[in-house]
Amino acid sequence: MIIPRRVCQIRPRRVILSGIQPTGIPHLGNYLGALSNWVKLQKSAEPEDKLLFSIVGWHALTLPQDPAALLTARNDMLAVLLAIGIDPNRSILFHQDHLRRMTTWKSRLAAARNSASEDEVDESLLNAGLFMYPVLQAADVLVYKATHVPVGDDQQQHIELTRDLADIFNRTFKGTSPLFPLPNYVNTPSKRILSLKDPTSKMSKSSPDVQSRILLTDTATQIQSKIRAAVTDSIQGITYDPKDRPGTSNLLTILAACTDSDVTQVAKTYESQGHGDLETRSAYLDETARRGAARAIEHSEETMGLAPPIRGDMSDSGKPPVH
Ligand code: AMP
Ligand code: TRP
Repeated sequence: MIIPRRVCQIRPRRVILSGIQPTGIPHLGNYLGALSNWVKLQKSAEPEDKLLFSIVGWHALTLPQDPAALLTARNDMLAVLLAIGIDPNRSILFHQDHLRRMTTWKSRLAAARNSASEDEVDESLLNAGLFMYPVLQAADVLVYKATHVPVGDDQQQHIELTRDLADIFNRTFKGTSPLFPLPNYVNTPSKRILSLKDPTSKMSKSSPDVQSRILLTDTATQIQSKIRAAVTDSIQGITYDPKDRPGTSNLLTILAACTDSDVTQVAKTYESQGHGDLETRSAYLDETARRGAARAIEHSEETMGLAPPIRGDMSDSGKPPVH
């Protein structure tokens, strides 16, 4: 007898949520550590699963930002997320700071500030206390009752805090069933991609050395030269040894992630070869991935052009943002 799949299914509905700061074009670490997993989860989700992906402008405000540059970066991030395959018809793709326009939020703020009406709220009073980074992130997750949070290694602590907060809340305010599910941290095998220039630290958007990261919008030549100039070591042959050979192992991790293979298998293939072979091959793969993204960006820009302009948010120019 054939049992319909939906009847057999016992897995509860998942709410998959993640976010990324609009602080520049995402790099390979963002992609391999988190964004590629967003797309994978979108593809493998059951129809009843919910997916939410947020561009977290408020989290970016923990560092000083140029408002005009931030506005451009928010739009660029949206275009990149569409380009890598986030489907806005399937996943809820949104700007975290758009929620600021919600009346409920405004009225809460008005109450907190003892203002007479929502229109009188002075938003310059919003401060770090209100937007405290990890708490704000926990709020992002809990407000959607997310069950799965696909992020890179550096975010694990925040998800643990979120679980603790959810647990404390559930135990303090006991109802018939716990209000918040405890969200699961979902990672990838390449959850921590290292800097190409300093393989003791992670690849990061904020490093002053632009050679330390590969951006999703880099050209083939740029990617090739960055990979060729990556810091490795002078040990003969290729082995995967993250502790003693972090630079070489980082290139192997990148190559394995780009080819969806196991890193120890990849290392075996290159065992008797030199660093030059490894660097040429991963540059080729990176270029293949980049070309796909660049072509998709052309299409996504068309879609972006159709979107109505957003008024007001995060712009101090008085003009609506350009899409
Ligand atoms: P951010 O750019 O800080 O907003 O990070 C966006 C996502 O990319 C988060 O899930 C991070 O954990 C992930 N991420 C950032 N840098 C790296 C890296 N070097 N390796 C792996 N994942 C990363
Ligand atoms: N703090 C995360 C980062 O820097 C971004 C983020 C904000 C996030 N809110 C979130 C990630 C909610 C997952 C879920 O990468």
